[in-house]
Amino acid sequence: MIIISVFSLSLNAEEMGDPKRGKTMTATCAACHGTNGVSSNSEWPNLKGQQITYMVNQLKAFKSGERKNVLMNGVLDDLNEKDFLDISTYYNGIQ
Ligand code: HEC
Repeated sequence: MIIISVFSLSLNAEEMGDPKRGKTMTATCAACHGTNGVSSNSEWPNLKGQQITYMVNQLKAFKSGERKNVLMNGVLDDLNEKDFLDISTYYNGIQ
């Protein structure tokens, strides 16, 4: 029962992501990940269409330093979890 309610909470969190707000925070990201989330360089992963929960978790891991990358670790300092959700919802929705 507890597991079921945690699961539905995370689904609700995904639904609450605001892609328009997310887009406004992606100017920096676009320098490496491309304006539409398609990178020009194979070293930089595409963000277009990424699964929301996966992407939020990667951003949290970069911010905490659990996942290390010199290019990524600095760019998330001013962003919070709501920002990560909105940004991920935006990239997920790019056709
Ligand atoms: C200076 C270049 C650069 C900038 C700016 C940048 N990234 Fe990245 N990003 C990278 C690189 C390089 C990787 C691959 C890291 C690795 O191999 O672990 C990456 C990885 C990621 C990943 C993990 C993708 C995956 O498939 O696991 C996400 C999510 C991500 N970036 C989101 C963002 C967001 C959101 C922004 C803007 C707030 C951003 N990045 C800004 C270079 C950049």
